[in-house]
Amino acid sequence: MMRNKFFTGNFSSGLIVLLFFLLLSGCSPKKTTDEHGKSSCMKPDSINPNGSSELAKLMRNMHSHASLLRDYIINDRTLDTFPVSFQKIYTAKATDSTVRSNAFDKFSENYLNRLQNLYSVKDGASRKHAFNEMVDQCISCHNQYCTGPVKVISKLKIGEAEK
Ligand code: HEC
Repeated sequence: MMRNKFFTGNFSSGLIVLLFFLLLSGCSPKKTTDEHGKSSCMKPDSINPNGSSELAKLMRNMHSHASLLRDYIINDRTLDTFPVSFQKIYTAKATDSTVRSNAFDKFSENYLNRLQNLYSVKDGASRKHAFNEMVDQCISCHNQYCTGPVKVISKLKIGEAEK
């Protein structure tokens, strides 16, 4: 009789512990799209202890190249040759491999199209416009996948005063 009681007592306390755990895990915050956006990339100047992904390195090149283009356009200089290496955006290994999708490819395509268009435009005012359109494509993708650098990217845009 005593033994039986002991066992049932132990069983119910075990059940309480189990319920407590279920409750805890149920209450843990769900991953929102915003968090996904932040976790799938690092801030532009932060040091990633795991080393930078291939895509992150490519992005840094894309960023410095874009600010170079910006200078060329503002100073009415001829652009360098089209950076074919940026095609790697389709295959470069990302920090968060789950970003790879048809939607991601579409964003990549839109960006490369706008970049290509910028290289085909000759007139100064149209070049500024085409440049800002390209930066908009960087931002579109970043709003979806990697919100951290959006502020830095937005600064690339050529403002009215510089036109
Ligand atoms: C198709 C989507 C997409 C487009 C277009 C895109 N990015 Fe990115 N970008 C990402 C993703 C995803 C990461 C995170 C890369 C990683 O950590 O693997 C990233 C990372 C970055 C970073 C941070 C790199 C680092 O040091 O970790 C910068 C800066 C950046 N992008 C700038 C740009 C600029 C400038 C453009 C346009 C010229 C651009 N991006 C276009 C998706 C995109």
